[in-house]
Amino acid sequence: MDDYREPWKLRIAEALNAIMHKAGINADNISPAHIIAEIPPNPEMGDLGFPMFSFAKMLRMGPPQIAQMVCASLAEGAPSTEGASAVGPYVNVRLNRAVTAKAILQEVLGENAQKVDTLAGKKVMVEFSSPNTNKPLHLGHLRNNVLGESISRILTACGAELRKVCIINDRGIHICKSMLAYSEHGNGTTPATEGIKSDRFVGDWYVHFSKNLKQEAEDLAREKGLKKEEAEAQAPSLVRAQEMLCKWEAGDPETTALWKLMNSWAIEGMKETYRRTGISFDQYYFESDTWKLGREEVLKGLERGLFYRQDDGAVAVDLSAENLDKKILLRSDGTSIYITQDFGTAINRYKDFPFDQMIYVVGSEQQYHFKVLFVLLDKLGFPWAKNLYHLSYGMVNLPEGKMKSREGTVVDADDLIDSLRDMAIAEIKEKEREEKVGNPAEVAEKIALGALHYYLLQASPVKDMLFDPKESLSFNGNTGPYLQYMGARISSMLRKNEELGKNEELVMSNEGNIYSLLTSDSEWELIKTLAAYPQAVSEAAANLDPSRLTAYLYELSKCFSRFYHDCPILNAENPDLSAARLALSQAVLQILKDAFYLTCIPFLEVM
Ligand code: ARG
Repeated sequence: MDDYREPWKLRIAEALNAIMHKAGINADNISPAHIIAEIPPNPEMGDLGFPMFSFAKMLRMGPPQIAQMVCASLAEGAPSTEGASAVGPYVNVRLNRAVTAKAILQEVLGENAQKVDTLAGKKVMVEFSSPNTNKPLHLGHLRNNVLGESISRILTACGAELRKVCIINDRGIHICKSMLAYSEHGNGTTPATEGIKSDRFVGDWYVHFSKNLKQEAEDLAREKGLKKEEAEAQAPSLVRAQEMLCKWEAGDPETTALWKLMNSWAIEGMKETYRRTGISFDQYYFESDTWKLGREEVLKGLERGLFYRQDDGAVAVDLSAENLDKKILLRSDGTSIYITQDFGTAINRYKDFPFDQMIYVVGSEQQYHFKVLFVLLDKLGFPWAKNLYHLSYGMVNLPEGKMKSREGTVVDADDLIDSLRDMAIAEIKEKEREEKVGNPAEVAEKIALGALHYYLLQASPVKDMLFDPKESLSFNGNTGPYLQYMGARISSMLRKNEELGKNEELVMSNEGNIYSLLTSDSEWELIKTLAAYPQAVSEAAANLDPSRLTAYLYELSKCFSRFYHDCPILNAENPDLSAARLALSQAVLQILKDAFYLTCIPFLEVM
C-alpha cells in the first residue's frame, strides 16, 4: 500500500545523510528503510514520531542533538513543512490532515486496498485441533481451534500459501478404553437409539471405562495393599484394554470393525462442531495411517544406532546430550505410542506439501513432546526438521475451576456454545429485539461465537486464561458482541442513508476530494487508526498472535465511538461533509469485516 509515512521517512533519511556529509563522516547512505515510524503516546505531540537512537553511533552525536539538527534541516529544505519538532531523542511531525486523510481513505476504499505481502511465496502448514477419538471436543479445543484457524487466515492475508491440517489420533490405548466399555456394556445401543450427539456417545463410554477402572483399582488396592498406580496397572479392565490394543495392531477383524464404527461416530460428531464454529481443514491425517511409517522410522534409527533397545524390549533414546531425558519410542510389547506416529505424520505431510514452515498448534503441556520430536527428526536426517515450530498455548479454565478430562467433568465445546447461545437469546428477548433481528436463534448463535472467539483470542497464546461466559457476552466493554454491535450500527446507518437515496453520487462526482474535509480531531484519529491496520495484520502474522488484531479492533471501536459521538453523520452541516463521513464509516465497516474474518467473529447486519 502507499504508506502515508513513506514521504516522511524519505525526508528524514535525506536530512540525516546531509548531516553526515556536512560532518565529513564517510559511511553508507541511510535509506528510508532504516527510519522507524512510531505513533507518539499523546496525539498532542504529533502524528508520527521518529526515534534517532540508532543513528547516534554513526553520527557521533547524542540522539536529542540529532533530532534537533534533523528538524532544522527539514525546515530549511521544505518551508511548507507541516511541522516537525524535536522532542528529546524523537523527531515528531504533524501531518497535513486534509492531504493525508484523502490519501488514506482513497487507499482504504480503493480497489487493491491494504494489501500485505510480507509472506508472499511462503508455504506454511498449520496443524491444529487434532483431537483424540475417545471423547468430544472441549473448551481447550475451542481455544486451539480458533487460534489455528485465525492464524491460518492471518498468514494467508499476508500472502502465504497455506495448508490447514488436523491429525486425528484415532488409535492407541485411550481409544481402546472407550471401545472396551462399549463392547462389554453397550448392548447394541447407538447414538441414534439414544438420541445423543455421536462424539458425545463415544465419550460417555470413555467416562464409563474410567469410572469402572477407578473402582477396580480402589478395590485392588484395599484387598492386596497395593499402591494406587500399581493397583491401576493390574486392574482387569485395563489389562483387557491392552489386549484389545494388541488385537487391533494385529488387524483382528472384529476389533477393527468395532473401531471403525466408533471412530466414525466420534469423527462425524466433531466435524459437526467444526462446521458450527466455522473451522475447516484442507486435509485430515489419521494416526491409524501414519503409525506404521513412524514405527519403521524408529526401527531404522535403532539399526543406525541412534536409538537402543532396553532389556525389557522397549526402544528408547537417550537425549541427555541435548539436555532432555530418556524417551521411550516403542513399548516393550512392540506397540506404538503417541510419539511414534508423529514421525510418520510429519514425513507424510512434507511429502504432500513441501512446506517452508510447519506450525503445530498444541497445548503447552506438550512442550517436551515437541522438543523431543523435533530433535529426533533432525537426528534422523530430515532437513526440514529445522522448520518445525510448536505454537504452545496455555490452559483455559472456567471460573468454577479447572477442566478435567478423565472424570467426565470436562466442559464440552457444544455445551458451552449452547449455553452462550441461550444467554444471548435471553438477552435479545429481554431487549424485545426478536422481531428486529429476524431469526433470534441464528443471531444468538453468531453472537455466542463472536463472544467466544474474541475472548479466547484476546489473551496472548502463551498465557493461561480464564474464560468468563458472562463477561464475554457483555455488550459494553472489550468484547466480541460489542464489536459486532458496532458493525451492525454502521450497517444500519448506511442502510438508512441508502433509503434516503442521497450522497452516493456525491462521493463519485467529487472523486474523493471531499475526504479532505475530515480534519477534526476525532475524524483524524479514526483515519490514522484505519491506516494502521495493515501493520496490525503483519504484526499478528510475525508473532503468530491474533491478540494483536483483537487489540486493534478494540482501538478502532473506541476511535469510531468517539467519532460517532462528536460528528453528526447523516445530519452533518452540509451534504459534502455528510458524504465524507459516510465514506469514512464505510471504510471502518470494511476493515471491521476484514478483521472479523481474520479473528473468526461472525459479522451481523442487525442485532
Ligand atoms: N491428539 C493429541 C491430544 O489430544 C494432540 C495432537 C497434537 N499433534 C501432534 N502432531 N502430536 O493430546
